[in-house]
Amino acid sequence: MSTRHESIWNGTVEQPSFKPLKEDIEADIVVAGGGIAGITTAFLLSQEGKNVVLLEARTLLSGTSGYTTAKLSAQHYLIYAKLIELYGENIAKLYYEANCNAISSIESWAEARGIDCDFLREDSYVFTKQQEMKSSLEKEAEAYKKLCIDGDVIEGSPAFSDAVASPVMRNQAMFHPGKWLKGLIHEMENAGVRIFENTSLEDVEKTDDKIVCKTGTEHNITCSDLVIATHFPVYAENKFYVNNMSAESSVAMAFKTDKQLPTGMYITAEMPKWTMRNVKVGEESYILVGGESHPTGDGMSEEERYNRTALYAEEHLGLTKPAFRWSTRDYFSPDHIPLVGHLHEDTDHIYVLTGFSKWGLSNSTAGAQIIKDLIMGNDNPYIALYSPQREREEWTASSGENEAVKTYGANKTIENLKNNQAAVIKKDDKDIGVFKDENGELHYIDLSCTHMGCGVKWNDGDLTWDCPCHASRFSATGEVIGGPATEPLEKIDHL
Ligand SMILES: Cc1cc2nc3c(=O)[nH]c(=O)nc-3n(C[C@H](O)[C@H](O)[C@H](O)COP(=O)(O)OP(=O)(O)OC[C@H]3O[C@@H](n4cnc5c(N)ncnc54)[C@H](O)[C@@H]3O)c2cc1C
Ligand code: FES
Repeated sequence: MSTRHESIWNGTVEQPSFKPLKEDIEADIVVAGGGIAGITTAFLLSQEGKNVVLLEARTLLSGTSGYTTAKLSAQHYLIYAKLIELYGENIAKLYYEANCNAISSIESWAEARGIDCDFLREDSYVFTKQQEMKSSLEKEAEAYKKLCIDGDVIEGSPAFSDAVASPVMRNQAMFHPGKWLKGLIHEMENAGVRIFENTSLEDVEKTDDKIVCKTGTEHNITCSDLVIATHFPVYAENKFYVNNMSAESSVAMAFKTDKQLPTGMYITAEMPKWTMRNVKVGEESYILVGGESHPTGDGMSEEERYNRTALYAEEHLGLTKPAFRWSTRDYFSPDHIPLVGHLHEDTDHIYVLTGFSKWGLSNSTAGAQIIKDLIMGNDNPYIALYSPQREREEWTASSGENEAVKTYGANKTIENLKNNQAAVIKKDDKDIGVFKDENGELHYIDLSCTHMGCGVKWNDGDLTWDCPCHASRFSATGEVIGGPATEPLEKIDHL
């Protein structure tokens, strides 16, 4: 069986497509970014009777939301002991509540609107097989007690009887994000939201009472409020986001199988972390295994990461038939609480949702409700918790993930390149990427990222160039496939 190089979510649901912007238009609100953050925000505002436009630079769900593990859980690894340590019990409790309420919102909206998104309530486990990790897991379970979280720490786990400790959080959920967001897109269209794909937000001009959104189509949209949900904010008025966020990528594989994990969602406590859940699409059953977290664009071999993931799945779960494989990235805020609210202190009508720290499905749903309430002038108990202007603490625990080796691809020469491989060569002290495509044609590319000039690194598993600074991704021949960059890498005609 051949493995499809796409996510199980995008590979099993076809999304509707939309034309690019073809004329100058006006709207109450422009939402930029067609992932879960932007789509949920646009949906909620449309339900308030607002005249909303949704802009997507490429196609809806082509960003991280189409490539996730799709756990809808408030169990965000071992976050609660850490949040109590950083900010105290009240803030930790608010964070838990915000995420639980967001999960319940998805459940009730789906039920009310008849959106079948495979929503399933299940318990969520962090587990360890290592005695030395036991105490930190027990500390997390103590945090659950302090915060009255419905959970506990157990020996073993339903899927791994040799686990020595597993904090369990009860009654969490998982779903199919492709089906969920397709449902919301349909609801939005019915409510009159105008959606434009292949239409990127490129710049913003402010007049006294209006905002002019300049797009890559050369047409503008004039609006009263702008929501930037482009994963990494593509517009900002200072270096706050550039200086305060870091990006981490992981790989995932969905294995076709007759067996299923005992009910529950699982993640290991020890490094490297492995995450697992069942997926059922129609009659087909899969187990999704993800892991190999690493700083985006660290230059190590992504192909080896897929190989190690397949090995883990075979050794620990007996899985041998990878049907889908994919990788993606997410942005971390300094304290792992998302940055949602006013873009800057003095930008009244420009809002942002970002920094979801790999737990963006419930967090972005909570965030969309915050943005809707800020624009509508409603109270929301979580505004201060998520505010980008809050006082932030640094999350200092070392991730302990793989050490970056920044030489991958540099050890190849043009002469020994095979098809679909790349080399990095020097010319006039500049790094030049050389990609040999499947027809044997060579493509030469300037490896300076078009966002802020960092050197992009070759990703041999996905055949992309990834930027280590703010995680822009470019195709092997240099086209943008993930922002914040909006311009392709510069092509070089010949050496
Ligand atoms: C491997 C992995 C597994 C994960 N698993 C989980 C999980 O199990 N549970 C969970 O809660 N979270 C998980 N997350 C995190 C979660 O998936 C993300 O936080 C979330 O999907 C981010 O959504 P978003 O809408 O902000 O970004 P995106 O989905 O990336 O959407 C942003 C959109 O903006 C578009 N865009 C970019 N630039 C522009 C522009 N200039 N103009 C217009 N549009 C633009 C992009 O094309 C993209 O479609 C995971 C993350 C990773 C990396
Ligand atoms: S993404 Fe910012 S420099 Fe590349």
